[in-house]
Amino acid sequence: MELRVQRIDGMSLLRRAREKNPGVCAVVIAGTADIAQAVEAMRQGAADFQVKPLNHEKLLTVLRHGLEHQALAARVVEMESQLDERFGFERLTGRSRAIVRVMEQVRHIAATRATVLIEGETGTGKGLVAQAIHQNSPRKGERFVWVNCGALAEGVIEGELFGHERGELAGSSGSGRGRFELADGGTLFLDEIGELPPAIQVKLLRAMQDRSFERVGGTETIRTDVRLVAATSRDLAAEVGAGRFREDLFCRLGVVRIQMPPLRERPEDIPLLVERFVREFNREHGRRVAGVTRGVLDRLMRHPWPGNVRELRNTVEGMAVFARGRRALDLSDLPDRLREVESAGEKLELRVGMTVDEAERRLIAATLRHAGNDKPRAAAMLGIGLRTLYRKLRRYSLD
Ligand SMILES: Nc1ncnc2c1ncn2[C@@H]1O[C@H](COP(=O)(O)OP(=O)(O)OP(=O)(O)O)[C@@H](O)[C@H]1O
Ligand SMILES: [Mg+2]
Repeated sequence: MELRVQRIDGMSLLRRAREKNPGVCAVVIAGTADIAQAVEAMRQGAADFQVKPLNHEKLLTVLRHGLEHQALAARVVEMESQLDERFGFERLTGRSRAIVRVMEQVRHIAATRATVLIEGETGTGKGLVAQAIHQNSPRKGERFVWVNCGALAEGVIEGELFGHERGELAGSSGSGRGRFELADGGTLFLDEIGELPPAIQVKLLRAMQDRSFERVGGTETIRTDVRLVAATSRDLAAEVGAGRFREDLFCRLGVVRIQMPPLRERPEDIPLLVERFVREFNREHGRRVAGVTRGVLDRLMRHPWPGNVRELRNTVEGMAVFARGRRALDLSDLPDRLREVESAGEKLELRVGMTVDEAERRLIAATLRHAGNDKPRAAAMLGIGLRTLYRKLRRYSLD
């Protein structure tokens, strides 16, 4: 922009433009080299101050840099919002009562320092909930450290968690800090805590009680401020009963317990999840899938999903990858194992004169047979809740 143009003073224009869009790239052009003016222009956020006659090469370079900077700034904002989406609440999709309750619980306890135990079958979203707790807590600017207790060999897990004095573990190098120290001020997520060997259970309990521990082979007591979140796909209470998990540790971990509902008990979440995954995989694989047909949705809502949301997500990804064009995914896009369910079903005979109860009784009995007496699966196929199924089983004396 040029100073001293007709209707508005160049310096005011610069100020107004920066107010409207702080990222704007402005170059001030003046007739004379006035130092005070140059300083003022830069102070107001101009990218450069140039004096006539103009050097076009120089002007172009400044503008090019300015535009690059703008693009970069926009990208950072976009990435930040993606990060929020990756780790915040937005990722936890669902509207069933069960999942809404989980979200409420997370919101309620996130701000505290309480230890949380997340229980649920594989693929129900335990990892997602652990991240949401951290992300909604005052610790969100600090580290979220994830340890999969099931993936670490028994010999290394103590060192991984509590660190070790140099040279103590053969082959180890560098800093001896363990995950407890790394997570200081932040959140430590102990995934598959049911796999923790008994000796480490004792040390973990002590670390939780005293908020301090010693490294492996060390004598110095180390203090940390860590918020613990643990998850398990095993029934920890049963593990305690079987003597494989310490009861005192179980009590300490389970101050707050969040139960992740299996997907088959909340089929009403499936349409939302499918919509979300279709969008996600369209972006990831450059597809333009326009959702799924009513028939596909019906089938997906009746499937028992033993692998829960993870299995549903993988199924949608597979379908999206093979899809062509903009059409909605239909029954022919379903993987075989999902298509076969219906054709394999046994036929039922219904006669006029039969009561609704009798028809229902027969349908339930046949579905149970088909599901190999797996009640959650039968309930999902029938499109009713597990509790409703149990009530009907009692009513029709099928149990
Ligand atoms: N409510 C949900 N909304 C959106 N995505 C979900 C939801 N629940 C789970 N997912 C997705 O399903 C997959 C499995 O979730 P996650 O890894 O959190 O499950 P998990 O319970 O920790 O399973 P595992 O016990 O096998 O580790 C992830 O890709 C996750 O993003
Ligand atoms: Mg997990």
